[in-house]
Amino acid sequence: MNHNLLEVKNLKTYFFTRNGVVQAVDGVNLALRKGENLCLVGESGCGKTATALSILRLIDSPPGKILGGEILFHDEDLLRCPEERLRQIRGREIAMIFQDPQSSLNPVFTVGDQIAEPLKLHLKLNSKEALERARELMEQVGIPQADERMKDYPHQFSGGMKQRVMIAAALSCDPEILIADEPTTALDTTIKAQILDIFHDLKQARNMSILFITHDMGTVAGIADRIVVMYGGKIAEVGTTFDIFDQPAHPYTQGLLTCLPNISAQQQRLTPIPGTIPSLIDPPSGCIFHPRCPKRMPICDQEDPPEVFISDEHRVVCQLYKQPVTSPGKTGDTHSAQ
Ligand SMILES: Nc1ncnc2c1ncn2[C@@H]1O[C@H](COP(=O)(O)OP(=O)(O)OP(=O)(O)O)[C@@H](O)[C@H]1O
Ligand SMILES: [Mg+2]
Repeated sequence: MNHNLLEVKNLKTYFFTRNGVVQAVDGVNLALRKGENLCLVGESGCGKTATALSILRLIDSPPGKILGGEILFHDEDLLRCPEERLRQIRGREIAMIFQDPQSSLNPVFTVGDQIAEPLKLHLKLNSKEALERARELMEQVGIPQADERMKDYPHQFSGGMKQRVMIAAALSCDPEILIADEPTTALDTTIKAQILDIFHDLKQARNMSILFITHDMGTVAGIADRIVVMYGGKIAEVGTTFDIFDQPAHPYTQGLLTCLPNISAQQQRLTPIPGTIPSLIDPPSGCIFHPRCPKRMPICDQEDPPEVFISDEHRVVCQLYKQPVTSPGKTGDTHSAQ
């Protein structure tokens, strides 16, 4: 039985800019299962936000354009359904917390009204019912004196409290899927821990499926069930949290992990990945990571790397794992499951 709630298949989203075509998302495949927290990680500019925005068809066009692929939600292709249907899905069935909370909250409306708005729109609650539900949601995400605070405006909230408001607004219609784009990046350590606790509780209490986007491997470790590692608009590796942290296969994933501080080992220095992320306008040939890869081989700048399954749950896109052909038509790299 297919237990994937959302499947992104061969997604391609490019930005057509004055300087050239940015291949922001280039053939991405991933699947989100019921009740899991799937973390999408990778360095800045690797296409995480563009992937998330493409799922809800919120890419600015121009300059962006979704050029191909499928996004299956309950077997309905969101890239091909009418705009009207998509408006029902956004916020109601799939909610998103955007990377920049400042620009997502409207400064001229109270936070109570902003949380209540989707309840009126999607669930047809009247103002009184919607505001009462907004108050409950604010309490659930740990905003003290919610009764009073719902009458305040966004500028009267601290960064951490604003982030809680964003979460409350996203949860208002009890969506099946929550996409959270860097929801803790701008927060200090203690507030970040509190917000991560909210995500943990959400999954437990509501069996919600969460696509959690971050560039921080440290954040991922505590909350992910599975992890998708992205580099240069493409998937580098997918696996369970155990696979990625204990048996990372892609040299890029291995590099990300050596950048993590390890207090118990009293490590003196972190080891950054050498070089910088490539331009997605004119990306390197072959494997896009090859210019920075410590394990690069002559084939790596010649051919696209194969997708190889290390186990049912663990796949990597790298020449190092290319399987020899064992029988006609049977190679280790021909699956395309999620
Ligand atoms: N509106 C846009 N116009 C032109 N290029 C864009 C636009 N939005 C994104 N890009 C480009 O697409 C690529 C992917 O950007 P994206 O925002 O998806 O990265 P990201 O992984 O979310 O990075 P970050 O961790 O910094 O949020 C980048 O090269 C970026 O410059
Ligand atoms: Mg982003």
